[in-house]
Amino acid sequence: MIERLRAWARTHTEQDRYSPVGIAFHWVMAILVLFQLGWGWYTSFLPAGGDKLIGYQVHSAAGLPILILAILRFAWRIVIPGPVNDADRQGWQTQIAYATEYVFYICFFGLPLSGWAMWSSVAAPGPLYLAGFIPWPQLPLQELPLTSRWAVMDVAEDVHHVLVWALMILVPLHVLAALKHHFWNRHDVLRGMLPEIPDEEDLRATRRRMPRGTRSRGESGAG
Ligand code: HEM
Ligand code: HEM
Repeated sequence: MIERLRAWARTHTEQDRYSPVGIAFHWVMAILVLFQLGWGWYTSFLPAGGDKLIGYQVHSAAGLPILILAILRFAWRIVIPGPVNDADRQGWQTQIAYATEYVFYICFFGLPLSGWAMWSSVAAPGPLYLAGFIPWPQLPLQELPLTSRWAVMDVAEDVHHVLVWALMILVPLHVLAALKHHFWNRHDVLRGMLPEIPDEEDLRATRRRMPRGTRSRGESGAG
C-alpha cells in the first residue's frame, strides 16, 4: 500500500511538484493558520465579555482541526518525501528554508496543544468543539491543585505567544522567499506547490498513455 502511494507520489515529485495530497495539506492549513493569526489578534483586543468569549470559541473551533491535520500531514510527509526542486540546491538559503518549515510543523502542533491546555486549565469558559460541532474533551487538569493549574495556564500562554510571534516573523519571510524564487530566480518552487492545471500538451500525453479501448471517439487518432 505504502509502496503504491510512493509510486503514485513519484509521478508528481519527479516533475518537481508536490503531490495533490501535499498541495491540499499546504493550502488548507495555510488558510487556517492565517485565519487563526488574524482572528486571534482581533479577539485579543475585544473588551472582556460575551463577544470575546464567542471570538475565542470560534478561534478554538478553527484551531483544533489544525492539530488533526498536523498529525495526518506529518505522517504523510514522513512516508512521502517532497520533490527535490531548484530551491534545494541553494546552500545556506536552503538550510534556512528547511529550518522555517520545521518551525512551522512545531507551530502546527504547539499552538493547538497550548491553546487546548489554556482552555482546560483554569475554569474552562465552556465546552470545546472541533470545527464548531464535534465535541472535544478538556485535558484532564481539573484534579490538579489550583496553583498547578495556574502554572499550566502561564506556561501554555507563554508557549502560545512565542509560537504566534514565530509565525508572524516567519510566514512573511516564507511568502517573500516563494515569490522571490518564482519571479526573480525563475525557479520551479512555487509552481510545484500550486494545483496542476493541465495544458493541451498534458492532455495529449494523457490520451497517448490511455489504452486504445478506453479512448472516446475522436481521441483515438494520432496526437
Ligand atoms: C495554529 C493554530 C492557532 C493560532 C495561529 C493561534 C493564534 C492565536 C493568536 C494570534 C492569539 C492572540 C494573541 C495572543 O494572545 O497571543 C491567540 C490567543 C489565544 N488562543 Fe490561539 N491560536 C491557535 C490555536 C488555538 C487553539 C486550538 C486554541 C484552543 C483550543 C487556542 C486558544 C487561544 C486562547 C485561549 C488565547 C488567549 C490567550 C491569552 O490569554 O492571551 N488557540 N491565539
Ligand atoms: C501565500 C502564502 C504562501 C505561499 C506562496 C507558500 C509557498 C510555499 C512553497 C512554494 C513551498 C515549497 C517550498 C519548497 O519546496 O522548498 C511551501 C512549503 C511549505 N509551506 Fe508554504 N506558502 C504560503 C503560506 C504558508 C503558510 C501560511 C504556512 C503555515 C505556516 C506554510 C507552510 C509551509 C510548509 C510547512 C511547507 C513545507 C511543505 C511540506 O513539506 O509539508 N506556507 N510553501
